[in-house]
Amino acid sequence: MLRIDPIVEPPDVRLSLPGSKSITNRALITGALANGKSELSGVLFSEDTLAMIDCLEKMGVEIISERDNSSVTVIGTGGSLKPPTETLWVNQSGTTARFCLPLAALVRSDVVIDGDEQIKGRPHKQLCETLEILGAEIEYLGAPYTFPLRINGKELKGGKVNLGGEVSSQFISALLLAAPCFPEELEINIDGELVSRPYVDMTAAVMRAFEANISHPSDQKYSISPTGYQSSEYSIEADASAASYFFAAAAVSGGKIVVEGLGSQSIQGDIRFLNILEEMGAQVIRSEDSLAVVGLDSLSGVDVSMAEISDTVPTLAAIAPFASSPVTIRDVTFISGKESDRIGALITELTNIGIRAETTETGLVVHPGAPQEGIIHTYDDHRIAMAFSILGLFTSGITLDSHRCVTKTFPNFFDVLDQVRAAGDARLRVLAIDGPAGSGKSTLAKYLARQLNLDYLDTGAMYRSVAAVALSEDLDLNDEGKVASIAESIDIQFEGDKVYVDNEDFSEVIRGPEVNAAVSQVAANPGVRSVMRRQQRAWARLRGGGVLEGRDIGSVVFPQARLKVYITATPEERARRRSLETGQTVEDITKEMLNRDTKDSTRDDSPLVADQAAVVIDTTGKTIEETSSYIEELFL
Ligand code: DC
Repeated sequence: MLRIDPIVEPPDVRLSLPGSKSITNRALITGALANGKSELSGVLFSEDTLAMIDCLEKMGVEIISERDNSSVTVIGTGGSLKPPTETLWVNQSGTTARFCLPLAALVRSDVVIDGDEQIKGRPHKQLCETLEILGAEIEYLGAPYTFPLRINGKELKGGKVNLGGEVSSQFISALLLAAPCFPEELEINIDGELVSRPYVDMTAAVMRAFEANISHPSDQKYSISPTGYQSSEYSIEADASAASYFFAAAAVSGGKIVVEGLGSQSIQGDIRFLNILEEMGAQVIRSEDSLAVVGLDSLSGVDVSMAEISDTVPTLAAIAPFASSPVTIRDVTFISGKESDRIGALITELTNIGIRAETTETGLVVHPGAPQEGIIHTYDDHRIAMAFSILGLFTSGITLDSHRCVTKTFPNFFDVLDQVRAAGDARLRVLAIDGPAGSGKSTLAKYLARQLNLDYLDTGAMYRSVAAVALSEDLDLNDEGKVASIAESIDIQFEGDKVYVDNEDFSEVIRGPEVNAAVSQVAANPGVRSVMRRQQRAWARLRGGGVLEGRDIGSVVFPQARLKVYITATPEERARRRSLETGQTVEDITKEMLNRDTKDSTRDDSPLVADQAAVVIDTTGKTIEETSSYIEELFL
């Protein structure tokens, strides 16, 4: 369950969003097939792109990821992929599933491909048939044309193939991406109107950036020469589908949101979502390297075909109640076969919170209204979860029944959503207290909370709780994804000095030597930090403020805190205080503390630093009353 806090002030923010999933998965392939080493920047690391990276690695491609920099280096194979020793596992990723089929055929030896239940239900008939015509052999290990299957590229060559335009554009993109490494030219003829053409155009644009020779003499025809690819330094745009949520939020809020890394020349079809917002009455500002939406007085309804930008249907449906007339969405029947039955999901969930919404022949219509509070079922569909989070910004009492699904394409979605709330958060009575281990922060923060009549939050205990659960489940702390999902799934509650995790008293175990030794590594995990930050902000919003103590409260969690304090003391003093508390020797404590400080201050994600605007106080030799009264005066 996740409560969505409404915004209390219109936003005025610049956001940097994760890279486009669609472009990332295409550029990973062009890089993998190229001659030479490619550098990709702006890469999205999410479940879907990790699935692609994993499959490429299994086919012998060397990929060096730098997650903190959102970049990867791909050592190109010149088109010679190696036979994998294991099954290619595409997980839940549609693009990975489709794109890997022709890639696996390039291997020219047996390759087994399989994936999650959701993917097993999605057929690849026309793509498989086309590959068979081109000379590959496919054996279906389950139902025909579905995964698991075994493919062998054997006699794969080029030639002319026909594909129905009504089939998934991913089939066409899949063939296009592999085609430069076929032995002969490939000509694809499309029968009928091609759906989701913008995605095929995007494929062609990425291929050209890696010097593929692809011609498109008419709407119905693509020819690809067998020239291979050349390596490239390629910068991936921010994800336009992900940006749609924030554009929509700006339009409803009356504020302004600028999205960086996405410009008027974008190769992503979904930026056309902006045209709809414009038609509804929002202002759109387009420049080469950013796009912005300014919400004006009110939004009117629209009647639009969204066949080509269907990923943004949930976004539009979720803000539709706030328009002054009905919003009609056409030509999207096929989205009922996405991660969830999206039309059904949208109608059911909107109706449950008191909004009139109905299916039409090819889509849905949503009527104006004020949504009521309620629990939204997300169907484990990332786009349903993100769309209703935007609705929740303007409705009190919206809760998502599950929200982890956003990690499919946008792992830090809720963290970015908090930036939209930043203007309102600046009004909270937040006292941020940071500093190294044993600096006396906790004692001081508790004392100050009493003096100021505010609640107190020990954020270190939250990281400690995650570490304790990870240790108790014997997890490998290097498995960042698994440890982060613990952070997401456990319930941490404070009662006085006691800490309860899933209703169990953890107060002692989180202070034990095992947790002391493990907590810095757990706290350096970006997935864990993202969840903790979100919970800490929500905690303060619920109370109108509070005294929060930790390492990154003033620098990252609440950069707009009313007062930020950074507490230090000499290592000797800190060790002496801890020794009095715990009974351990001063030497042992000094060693453990300094070790932890080094790890906490050198990690990449929100390291321990004194924020520029923080008041730095050395408490060595000072009494708690002295320090506290000084801070109280500054705070009030
Ligand atoms: O305050 P403490 O010693 O209980 O914190 C335990 C660990 O948690 C500490 O080594 C660093 C980490 N931590 C953090 O990274 N960010 C916070 N806001 C609080 C604690």
